[in-house]
Amino acid sequence: MTTPVKTVLVVGGAGYIGSHMVWLLGQKGVDVVTLDNLSSGHRDAVLHGQFVHGDIADRLILDKVFREHKFDAVMHFASFIQVGESMQDPAKYYQNNVVNTLNLLNAMRTYGVDKFIFSSTAAIFGEPEYSPIDEAHPKRPINPYGWSKLMVEQALADYDRAYGLKSVCLRYFNAAGAHPDGLLGERHDPETHLIPLVLQAASARRPHITVFGRDYDTPDGTCIRDYIHILDLAEAHWLALQYLQSAGETTAFNLGNGNGYSVESVIQAAKRVTGKTITVQEGQRREGDPARLVANASKIKQQLGWQPAYADLDVIVEHAWQWEHNHASGCTGTK
Ligand code: UFG
Repeated sequence: MTTPVKTVLVVGGAGYIGSHMVWLLGQKGVDVVTLDNLSSGHRDAVLHGQFVHGDIADRLILDKVFREHKFDAVMHFASFIQVGESMQDPAKYYQNNVVNTLNLLNAMRTYGVDKFIFSSTAAIFGEPEYSPIDEAHPKRPINPYGWSKLMVEQALADYDRAYGLKSVCLRYFNAAGAHPDGLLGERHDPETHLIPLVLQAASARRPHITVFGRDYDTPDGTCIRDYIHILDLAEAHWLALQYLQSAGETTAFNLGNGNGYSVESVIQAAKRVTGKTITVQEGQRREGDPARLVANASKIKQQLGWQPAYADLDVIVEHAWQWEHNHASGCTGTK
């Protein structure tokens, strides 16, 4: 039997993925407390619940938040996500993504909260040995970002065995798209992700999009990724929460559509959807980019009944375009 979820702490709820999650929890009638340091998130993206400005590095803030609320579960979206930056500055990644996450987990232990949903990543697998990638695929990260997430996955297995803390790790492939009603979208600064960059080139906020390599071993020579709509991702978290509420065991799921799209096909989709001219520049390969990253999401489909509602690439791009269009006309910067 599933115990209804009353209150959830969403760490990083002002960010791209977290803000869609907070919105969805609001739709489900769940009380939410968002804890976010606004290092990359936006206060105005938190459309539901209570907002606390603070950092999980700060134990006093954690004490205050956990003392004031009785949480059924914690969802943790607050991490640094740039692979390249993690190579240049691993300390930043291990400090925030690992040490600060342990702070949060220890606060959960102190206050008796025993359900945790963790934003993990395809980067824990490293260079793919086969495709699509299932949960059993070897885990050999090739950058500190991937390692930082895998270390937390390991800590979570140990925290369950020793302290009974139950968790679900959701290993995202490429989160993309925006809220279908235009309420929320991607606002990274700097933006590094392909779809928003292509759309910024379509709306003339950027002069061009650079394709990072056309000499990969793929049909059109550009890298293939598995783009998953942000609301499908949020829905998966909701199902994971129900699963933990019905006494589910600690586990991990790969989360993607199972469809791979090349960089070139994303650019073509953006041209179709926007009707704009997009200037394409040819660039070198980006260090650390595998040719193909596609999820085998059978496990989450079978065990949690997850089904993507917005699997079509054009729909993903269309929602992102709607956001880009409104956002670009409403403000001058990228943040
Ligand atoms: N790309 C370009 N030009 C750009 C930006 C990206 O050609 O200007 C290409 C990349 O080389 C890659 C594809 O577009 O082949 C997608 O790149 P993104 O940066 O959008 O996404 P990644 O696949 O690199 O990153 C995603 C997540 C990361 C995570 C990583 C794991 O966004 O957080 O997968 O491998 F770490």
